[in-house]
Amino acid sequence: MLFELVAHNDSLTRAFSLAAHLLNTFLLLGSLALTGWWASGGSPVAFGGRSARLWLLGIGVAATLLVGMTGAITALGDTLFPAGSLLEGLRQDTSATAHLLVRLRVLHPVLAIGTGLYLVALAATFAARGGGRIVSGLARGLGTLVVAQWVAGLTNVALLAPVWLQLTHLLLADLLWIVLVLLGAAVLAQSAASRVPVVETPLDRAAPAGIRPGAGALR
Ligand code: HEM
Repeated sequence: MLFELVAHNDSLTRAFSLAAHLLNTFLLLGSLALTGWWASGGSPVAFGGRSARLWLLGIGVAATLLVGMTGAITALGDTLFPAGSLLEGLRQDTSATAHLLVRLRVLHPVLAIGTGLYLVALAATFAARGGGRIVSGLARGLGTLVVAQWVAGLTNVALLAPVWLQLTHLLLADLLWIVLVLLGAAVLAQSAASRVPVVETPLDRAAPAGIRPGAGALR
């Protein structure tokens, strides 16, 4: 209650604070997901020589964060200026005299559709380039969650955002974010072979190349 950014406060400061809160939640969730991933044996990531993957992932991560933040602003607009019907809501969205929070509501679905298409393409690209069962499983999960979010988001608009659906949409957004973070970790994971230091023993050096233990092994 320190800054009174609650109840009927419709200031832009409140909108920014909600967006920042969502960002913070996503960063915390991402850190927890990565901690669990690495604690259960996930390979550490390697950035060297992977600038294309890094850029593609970075764009997806930044766009998803933006979608989440604009979603929080849309949710605030829905709470402060509830519409009586779908038609009234659409009229409010396009009215030049409506409150800024109402006019900003349209930003979220537009960004969410564009970002969703990008994430589906990204997931399909990573899955097609190999990377094993984990990458293809996560890529499939990401694609499924994007489609589920589109359906939940559109239903949210149609049903004027009932609380149960708001919670479902938020839960799906959290899951989508976690799967994206894990897909990033899996795609950037060092291969196990490149992590094992190759130590040559005196025995290895003495043996002829053809019968050296480990000679020809994948490094
Ligand atoms: C990648 C897909 C999407 C993601 C990650 C996403 C994420 C979010 C998030 C995080 C919120 C804030 C929830 C809250 O703080 O209570 C939100 C709200 C909202 N989103 Fe989305 N969204 C997506 C797609 C869509 C689409 C396609 C639409 C509509 C066509 C939509 C409509 C809404 C509406 C109306 C709200 C406000 C009501 C609520 O709180 O649930 N979303 N979204």
